[in-house]
Amino acid sequence: MFINFWYAVASSQSVTDQPLKVRMLGQDFVLFRDGSGAVACLADTCIHRGASLGNGKVKEGCLQCPYHGWRFDRDGRCTRIPSLGAGARVPARARVDSYPVVERYGLIFAFLGDLPEEERPPILEIPEWGREGWRTMAYTYDWQVHFQRSVENSLDAPHVDFVHDFGGMNNTTFKLEPERSVVEERGAWGAVHLIDTKTQHFEHGHCGASHTWTWLLFGKGDDSPRFLFYTFITPVDETRVRRFLIHARNVQLEPRVDDQLRPANDTAEREDRVVIESLRPAESPTGTHHEFMVADDAIMVRYRERLREWEQRGWRIDSDEVQRQRKRVAFAIPGPARRQGGSWVLDPIPLLAPDERSSAVWPDSSSSSPSS
Ligand code: FES
Ligand SMILES: [Fe+2]
Repeated sequence: MFINFWYAVASSQSVTDQPLKVRMLGQDFVLFRDGSGAVACLADTCIHRGASLGNGKVKEGCLQCPYHGWRFDRDGRCTRIPSLGAGARVPARARVDSYPVVERYGLIFAFLGDLPEEERPPILEIPEWGREGWRTMAYTYDWQVHFQRSVENSLDAPHVDFVHDFGGMNNTTFKLEPERSVVEERGAWGAVHLIDTKTQHFEHGHCGASHTWTWLLFGKGDDSPRFLFYTFITPVDETRVRRFLIHARNVQLEPRVDDQLRPANDTAEREDRVVIESLRPAESPTGTHHEFMVADDAIMVRYRERLREWEQRGWRIDSDEVQRQRKRVAFAIPGPARRQGGSWVLDPIPLLAPDERSSAVWPDSSSSSPSS
């Protein structure tokens, strides 16, 4: 699991002025809306004596700890320590990590890491969202898998013939379009697979560690039928993911068609989930050892190279170490405020140390979007 990416946390409407506890990357977080309606995402561990802030209450726009009533604002700063007496000064060190948040596509996204704004990898774009001539549907699914297995399934075209029955597309052969086997654009990486004719295309790719897109395109013109799937995969921990799926279509726009499509999408998800939960080992092998990759797996190989590059930047959580110390240490994923220095109560989560071979660079952010 990796810090320094945007992760989909919950639907917008599920975050209210009541605290919402969410587990991501093996850590606990709490979300709430402050007095202005802005969303806050804080590390869930109270820095006083370790209570779960998510069990507290929102009071006057701040989150009040259920144990001794300390209050924390949207930036994680403690604003009130009742036992010190009215008007007492609150020490600057009394703060919890807070994380940047945006609301987009009906979801809350939190940036779980400490990178400054200009260095943050992007959220996968959905250009069709809210656009005339398109209809979108949202789903949430839970799988008992390591996140990388879930992402790699989105990057895997040939399985579609064998795991699913998509009407006219079944029993066709997916062939990689050689000149577009791996495209890299603005932090996103994709591949194009031809289905059985020159006019039917299957495109897929990933943006960052766990946002993926899968497109079914019937014809080349803008008016041709398109079924687009965007999935924001959030690791809950090393063995579970929550998948926030947005399905966009430019045909059959009547709302009643949603009721027909929903069971079909549920079925496809279930078919994938059953296979992916059965894979061995539970976590993808590192690199391409211990698997027999073929040409169609090029995008998968590239994805694993990317993960390795992010690991080399020191973004990969050392889950074994977290597990080893779990009974004695409550860690926090460092938020951007830690870059300004100061002393923090909770230790930062252990990360795998980069080795000396690191040469990773983020791609040029001025190039075009994955949809072009
Ligand atoms: S543990 Fe939160 S106020 Fe004491
Ligand atoms: Fe599938």
